[in-house]
Amino acid sequence: MLNGKTALVTGGARGIGAAICRKLASLGADIAIVDLTVTEQAQALEAEISAEYGVKAKAYACNVGDAEQCKATVKQVIADLGNVTILVNNAGITRDGLILGMKEADFDAVVNTNLKGTFNMTQACYRPFMKQKYGKIVNLGSVSGLLGTAGQANYAASKAGVMALTKVTARELASRGVTCNAIAPGFIATDMTKEISDEATQNYLASIPVGRAGQPEDVANLAAFLASPESDYITGTVIRIDGGLAIS
Ligand SMILES: NC(=O)c1ccc[n+]([C@@H]2O[C@H](COP(=O)([O-])OP(=O)(O)OC[C@H]3O[C@@H](n4cnc5c(N)ncnc54)[C@H](O)[C@@H]3O)[C@@H](O)[C@H]2O)c1
Repeated sequence: MLNGKTALVTGGARGIGAAICRKLASLGADIAIVDLTVTEQAQALEAEISAEYGVKAKAYACNVGDAEQCKATVKQVIADLGNVTILVNNAGITRDGLILGMKEADFDAVVNTNLKGTFNMTQACYRPFMKQKYGKIVNLGSVSGLLGTAGQANYAASKAGVMALTKVTARELASRGVTCNAIAPGFIATDMTKEISDEATQNYLASIPVGRAGQPEDVANLAAFLASPESDYITGTVIRIDGGLAIS
């Protein structure tokens, strides 16, 4: 379904990003695995994807919080793999704490990676997407940005920002054949959620109606749908994938 397409996935080296890389590759897309550094994990994923799915895969080092690095990376990916048609803004970090004691550096780091990083990559792909009159942008929001989870002022605000940016991007680029949607995961079993205390994890699990944590593959399946032509009439939406955690 995605043969001949090139997907750029930020934070693609592990967790949800790696699952999205595998899923898009399984559908035929060439994959740019973009992460802070080219780790052994990223190189292993690159080799696994090429061997398993017979598509091109290449790992790139890029800090999404840095606009110049984003522009240079998009340029390099286009040179190596051809026109980018799918952008998945997945890179994200947490630095949790109550507002009372939250360090300015922790607020800035989270907003810079999650929100500005999404903006930077979107801006870097904007002109190429307009020119080719086609593009699929999938942003990773979070139910935290919908619920306002205590202890996550920086993270929740950044993700609410990502979900607003999704709507702006969708409106600006709809006439150019580009869709932009956000996924709002709940509690997904990755390295990110391993950092949460056992007590808080139990509380999360108890509040999920389907009774389990989500898996990275659950999110990857939705990302693949939003990256495929099957979702061409969907834009500017935020879709929760949370086992019912944030049912309102
Ligand atoms: N795991 C969850 O429960 C959950 C819930 C809601 C939303 N999300 C969102 O999903 C996305 C993926 O989360 P995950 O659980 O796989 O996290 P993770 O920590 O396992 O992976 C995140 C990846 O992003 C990369 N990254 C971090 N900062 C970067 C930067 N500045 N530039 C480039 N890459 C960077 C990391 O190196 C890592 O490979 C994040 O945006 C996260 O906020 C996760």
